[in-house]
Amino acid sequence: MQFTGKLSTLFLKYNRFMKLVLAPMEGVVDFKMRQLLTDLGGFDLCVTEFVRVVQARLPEKVFYRYCPELNNNGYTRAGTPVRIQLLGQEANPLAENAVRAIDLGSHGVDLNFGCPAKTVNRSRGGAVLLKDPEHMYTIIKAVRDAVDSKHEVSAKIRLGFDDDSKSQEIIDAVVSAGANSVAIHARTKRDGYNPPAYWEKIPPIIKGKNIAVVANGEIWQVEDAMLCQKRSGCSDLMLGRGALSHPDLAKKIKAHVNNEHYEGLEWEHVLYHLIHSAIHHDPAKDEKYFASRTKQWLGYLKRQYPQAITLFDEIRRLKTKEDVSAVLKKYAKAPQLDSNHDS
Ligand SMILES: Cc1cc2nc3c(=O)[nH]c(=O)nc-3n(C[C@H](O)[C@H](O)[C@H](O)COP(=O)(O)O)c2cc1C
Repeated sequence: MQFTGKLSTLFLKYNRFMKLVLAPMEGVVDFKMRQLLTDLGGFDLCVTEFVRVVQARLPEKVFYRYCPELNNNGYTRAGTPVRIQLLGQEANPLAENAVRAIDLGSHGVDLNFGCPAKTVNRSRGGAVLLKDPEHMYTIIKAVRDAVDSKHEVSAKIRLGFDDDSKSQEIIDAVVSAGANSVAIHARTKRDGYNPPAYWEKIPPIIKGKNIAVVANGEIWQVEDAMLCQKRSGCSDLMLGRGALSHPDLAKKIKAHVNNEHYEGLEWEHVLYHLIHSAIHHDPAKDEKYFASRTKQWLGYLKRQYPQAITLFDEIRRLKTKEDVSAVLKKYAKAPQLDSNHDS
């Protein structure tokens, strides 16, 4: 939700209505990571990794693969609703698959207009659509018309492709096509993931628009969240890499705005999750999967926990689950935790 001017100041004071969304991150925020992060608390909604739509209606099993939470009425174990994200370039197949996602239990449907991957952009999907707001309109309108109005349709955008000169047109397309909400990653495709995120570019383009807006980009700490709210005028925020480097960031932000005491997650606790929640264990994948996903997460954790640097260096060359687990266990102090965290 977005407010401007005096109303914004007033609203930010009553921040307890703030919503935090866990960002979609392909190859990183999968079912198990969503489970772990939402178990820790603070999130109001998760968005899945993108499901690529080319032409046909996808088989149900594809939706279950990306969103196993569909087996739980579309909720994570902690009860956080999950929304399926679709990525494609053709309106009709996207609309058909959106309906299927909803029928299977997705909490609304999200459309990806931000993916910078060359392969995706070459086939006219993801961020390249930002060059053509009219086409974005056609896609969103088709999906909105196909999906029952009681379900939310959201769009995830960047400020533009090469530059932000079309950012107003992009927002106008999203709003006039009838999307209920838009998550704005406040950078262009060309900016990639390089800091800063231009939160201050959000208020002018959404001024007077009747749409819920979620600000996204470069929120690594509670202070960033507060600054992002102030600069973007948005109460609702989406957390991506910050939530991986700082697994209880959402909980910390909520505690901060609600004036509640919260100690924060110790490194030993994070380590416990690395080992015991089997976050990177997938029996369907080969041996190297566990090692590579553990290294990937440690790569994010390094930013918040210096201990992760040592651990990362130690497992850097290891390839098997057995070898990596042996090192993790050596470091673990096995704190007493709620058995709810085992899986
Ligand atoms: C590895 C990676 C994968 C991503 N995958 C997706 C995706 O599947 N769909 C999407 O809309 N955005 C995707 N994003 C973008 C994030 O959702 C988010 O907009 C971006 O990381 C900026 O937020 P942050 O600074 O909080 O990380 C991805 C980003 C990264 C780094």
